[in-house]
Amino acid sequence: MVLIVTIIIVLAAVLAYGRKETSMQLLQWKGRGTTKNLQEVFLGRCYNYITTVKPELRDKDCQKIWATMQNAFVYKNPCNITTEDYQPLLDLASHPVPCNKSLFWSKTNDLVHRYTKTNHNFLTLEDTLLGYVADGVSWCGSRFSPGINYESCPKWSECENNPNTVYWKMASKMFAEAACGTVQVMLNGSIDGAFNNNSMFGSVEIFNLNPHKVSSVRIWLMYNIGGPQRESCTGRSITSLKTILEERNLSVSCEDNYRPVQLLQCASDPDHADCRLCTNSIQ
Ligand SMILES: *[C@@H]1O[C@H](CO)[C@@H](O)[C@H](O)[C@H]1NC(C)=O
Ligand SMILES: *[C@@H]1O[C@H](CO)[C@@H](O)[C@H](O)[C@H]1NC(C)=O
Ligand SMILES: *[C@@H]1O[C@H](CO)[C@@H](O)[C@H](O)[C@H]1NC(C)=O
Ligand SMILES: *[C@@H]1O[C@H](CO)[C@@H](O)[C@H](O)[C@H]1NC(C)=O
Ligand SMILES: *[C@@H]1O[C@H](CO)[C@@H](O)[C@H](O)[C@H]1NC(C)=O
Repeated sequence: MVLIVTIIIVLAAVLAYGRKETSMQLLQWKGRGTTKNLQEVFLGRCYNYITTVKPELRDKDCQKIWATMQNAFVYKNPCNITTEDYQPLLDLASHPVPCNKSLFWSKTNDLVHRYTKTNHNFLTLEDTLLGYVADGVSWCGSRFSPGINYESCPKWSECENNPNTVYWKMASKMFAEAACGTVQVMLNGSIDGAFNNNSMFGSVEIFNLNPHKVSSVRIWLMYNIGGPQRESCTGRSITSLKTILEERNLSVSCEDNYRPVQLLQCASDPDHADCRLCTNSIQ
């Protein structure tokens, strides 16, 4: 009896302490917390990438890459991350992207990655090692042990210099700087303002394309099957994108419904009226 009472008291004390910790640090930010098992996810993706996705990168050291990733944010103030924090990680994990293959995107996340999965002539940032290991996960530090906040992380609106935003900005900048030859960008014509100057593409990537290396930019403007078509190649935001690029001495072209990608959309929706052209051409 005494034993049982003791156990209950101890349990209650532990729970109460845990809850106090929780209210102290855990509900602090508005964004989602660090992805559970971040280390395993990160390392697993890294090894998968250098083993099966791009075996030519087999000499990359995933353990060391993870260690530099940890150094960048663990135990650090998640509102005070700098480019210096990530520089060692970017130096270790970056790799060249062949000319003509860089594919940028904005608001077409699902479609663009379905496309690069089947067409290996193109690579998005998420198809490079840096993008691959971090895609869809979140992370941030905490001053409490273990130095990682699994409960919440700052949103961009709470503080700009948070670990995720700084990471993606740097990786995007690097990806754009590395581009050469003809580059392409897949934009979403089914939303208002297909080109958004606040997006990563509109605020970081276009300004880091090197006009001495990049000869031209091809815009692929895609629509949802069944529409709507809110903006065409002559629309207001696309025109403003063309102007920005031309001022940087890059030549620009734009194509509505770029056919290879539309065929992929139609593969998931073959009976839709918008996809009839595909069957007509076979008849
Ligand atoms: C932010 O980080 C810099 C450099 O690491 C440091 O000098 C500065 O004191 C930090 N500021 C805050 C508010 O933590
Ligand atoms: C890139 O495309 C241009 C123009 O289409 C072509 O002349 C060049 O050889 C291509 N470069 C590579 C590395 O494929
Ligand atoms: C365009 O954006 C909307 C809203 O985010 C999304 O539902 C749709 O799938 C996107 N279309 C394409 C072609 O990516
Ligand atoms: C961004 O776009 C908005 C609206 O489309 C425009 O008012 C603003 O001037 C643009 N900002 C820059 C820096 O071009
Ligand atoms: C674009 O090219 C023109 C003529 O070669 C040059 O005068 C101008 O400085 C260039 N602009 C940029 C942004 O590189």
